Amino acid sequence: MGAMEVIIQSDKRQASLLGARIIARQVQKKPNAALGFATGKTPLLLYQFLVQMHREKELDFSRVTAFNLDEYIGLDPSHPASFHSYMWQNLFGPIAIREDKVNIPNGMAADIPAACRKFEETIKSSGGIDIQILGIGRDGHIGFNEPSSSLTSRTRIKTLTAETRRDHGQEFGGDEKVPFHVITMGLGTIMEARTCLLLAFGKEKARPIAQTIEGPITAMVPASILQLHQRAIVLLDEEAAAELTKIDYYRWVYGHKPDWQKY
Ligand code: GLP
Repeated sequence: MGAMEVIIQSDKRQASLLGARIIARQVQKKPNAALGFATGKTPLLLYQFLVQMHREKELDFSRVTAFNLDEYIGLDPSHPASFHSYMWQNLFGPIAIREDKVNIPNGMAADIPAACRKFEETIKSSGGIDIQILGIGRDGHIGFNEPSSSLTSRTRIKTLTAETRRDHGQEFGGDEKVPFHVITMGLGTIMEARTCLLLAFGKEKARPIAQTIEGPITAMVPASILQLHQRAIVLLDEEAAAELTKIDYYRWVYGHKPDWQKY
């Protein structure tokens, strides 16, 4: 089954809650699920909902394996702008994921290609990622797969664009302090996740979202490869959905979802 499901919610709170419910279902069904996480502002509310579910004892993450999309090269994991710090602070700490089950690309590795290969092997030996959470960059990137990334790429080193470095300047206290290089899961790696959950909120995401869902599949919009994914769920608020030409149809489809398919 190949499918991209576009779900438009009134606001990011509703969309994030639905996303958290999809994750919760997966963990309830398969307590040792492998989940793929993303960083950035977009998934923060979804993570807060997962933390709340954990606190209310609805969800147990003790057997879950975690993978992360990307990390800066040469940045100590303890640096406040590292994705390690972000994940432990916003999610892994509060939901008590076991440290030995957390896999974030190692940007401090002496041998980066070897670290990338090992990361891919760990995904395979865990049985593959059940749900990969994704945000999207303003230029259509997912993970740190910048425009022109190979559509079949694996975990590897990438050089950030000037635009993406500027987008992260605030976290580093200045654009010039943002690293130039990162390790990111490849588009081929992401495509192997059994489900991809792409979240996008706000008007600055309207254009990349329209290109991703309705544009041609192209390396210039890396997220557009998701059109070929076996199960990609796209959760949007009204602003991020604003440039979709088939918006009425997506609402119609979701409104008529058969009961047995509902989340
Ligand atoms: C970074 C991350 C992506 C993320 C994107 C958008 O580039 N590597 O995984 O999706 O930023 O970030 P935000 O959610 O803050 O808009």
